Amino acid sequence: MKYNLSEINDVIRNRRSIYPEQYSERKVHREMVEVLLKNACWAPTHKMTQPWYFKVFMGEGIQKLATFQAETYKAITPEEKFVERKYRKLQERPLKASAIIAICMKRDPKESVPEVEEVMSVACAVQNMYLTATTYGLGGYWSTGGLTFKDEMKAFLELGEKDRCLGFFYVGYPDIPWPKGQRRHLQYYTDWVES
Ligand SMILES: Cc1cc2nc3c(=O)[nH]c(=O)nc-3n(C[C@H](O)[C@H](O)[C@H](O)COP(=O)(O)O)c2cc1C
Repeated sequence: MKYNLSEINDVIRNRRSIYPEQYSERKVHREMVEVLLKNACWAPTHKMTQPWYFKVFMGEGIQKLATFQAETYKAITPEEKFVERKYRKLQERPLKASAIIAICMKRDPKESVPEVEEVMSVACAVQNMYLTATTYGLGGYWSTGGLTFKDEMKAFLELGEKDRCLGFFYVGYPDIPWPKGQRRHLQYYTDWVES
C-alpha cells in the first residue's frame, strides 16, 4: 500500500463541520489557511478548467464581509419580513472565525464542460479544505446560508455573470471536544450489480 489507509480513513471519517460559535479566540495563521487553499486546487477538474476561485477574508476583512451582509440583508428585506435576530447573526457570527473563504466557481469562458461539472469540481476542492483542516485539528464549516446566492453577494465578490458563489468556508480553532459524526451503513446507499 502506498499510503497509510487507516490514517486517511480516520481523517475522512472524523472530518466534521465545526461552527463559528464553537471556535476559541485563538487565531489561525495565514500560512495554515494557505495550505488549505493549496490543497483545494488539487481537486479533480474535467478538461483542467480549474474552476475554483476563493476570496479569503481575514482580520479586518471579516468585519467588512459581516457589515456588508448584515446591511445588505437590511436593505433588501421588506420591513415586515425583517428579523432583527437574523440581522445580528449576519453581523456577529463571522467575527468568531479566523478566516472565511468565499467558495466560488469561475466559469470557463469556453464553457468546455457543463456548469454542473464545474460546481462538482469546486465541491471536491472544498472537501480537500475540510480534510486539511481536520488534519490540522482546525474547525471548518461550509455555509450556504445568508446572502450566498444573492446577486448582491456576487457583486460584492466581484464575480462575473456566469460565475457563482457556492458558499463560505469558516475556519477556526475548536473550543469543544471534537464532535462525533454518524452515517448510514453501506447497505443503505449502495446497490451492487455483479452479474
Ligand atoms: C453544500 C453544503 C452546504 C452546507 N450549508 C450549510 C448551512 O448553510 N448551514 C449549516 O448549518 N450547515 C451547512 N452545511 C454543513 C452540513 O450541515 C454538515 O455537513 C452536515 O450536518 C453533516 O455534518 P458533518 O459535516 O460534521 O459530517 C453544508 C454542507 C454542504 C456540503
